[in-house]
Amino acid sequence: MTLKLIILFLIVGYTVGYRIASEVCPLPSSLKPNYDFNWKSKSNEWSNTQAETSYIMLALSWSPTFCASLSQSARENKFQCHPSNSFGLIVHGLWPQALKAPNVRAHPRNCRDEPQLNATFVKRYFCIMPDEDLVQGEWEKHGTCYYSAAVDYYTVTENLFKSLNLPEYNFLNTASGAAIKNTFVTLNAPKLFASAVRVDTDSKGRLKEIKICYNLQYQFTVCT
Ligand SMILES: *[C@@H]1O[C@H](CO)[C@@H](O)[C@H](O)[C@H]1NC(C)=O
Repeated sequence: MTLKLIILFLIVGYTVGYRIASEVCPLPSSLKPNYDFNWKSKSNEWSNTQAETSYIMLALSWSPTFCASLSQSARENKFQCHPSNSFGLIVHGLWPQALKAPNVRAHPRNCRDEPQLNATFVKRYFCIMPDEDLVQGEWEKHGTCYYSAAVDYYTVTENLFKSLNLPEYNFLNTASGAAIKNTFVTLNAPKLFASAVRVDTDSKGRLKEIKICYNLQYQFTVCT
């Protein structure tokens, strides 16, 4: 190989590397050693292995509102909320849901106990779910009720999230729930329609969550 070619490859390599690097979100230097999830050790957790999955809900969380609800010390100890990071809309979880459930306990939940996911796997999804407890917990709490492997669950989750057109940060940070819903539907029309989206706000009217419903073929469907 001539020197010119080697230099060309180096330049192309750096350019590609830079582009890829600029899309990568911040990662913590290490994860905590233990982030396994066990619903039996939680006072406010339960299991429902009997409920049938009829549709799937993608729950997105507005990180600024979530972080503002924590105490300052909790914020500083949480990578997602540390002041040097600025996450916007993140994935809360992908939830297999029962049709017309009368209450939250009627939905599938905590179907299998699973071992702790490895750190490589968890970090792979940190851009969309920047918290190891969240990645582990959602897989066990919700994913195990419809998916046989974590990689299937998180591949679907990431694909659904990335296929959405999201409103801009400043709009989500300031607009009303109704305006956010309208804009979100418009940005994803004509496939998306109003009854397949739910927008939750807190008592001050700040965005908390956006929920999008899919049928079992992953097409938008009404949230019941
Ligand atoms: C981490 O977990 C994934 C998914 O289960 C698996 O495919 C991968 O081989 C594991 N990697 C390591 C380094 O253990």
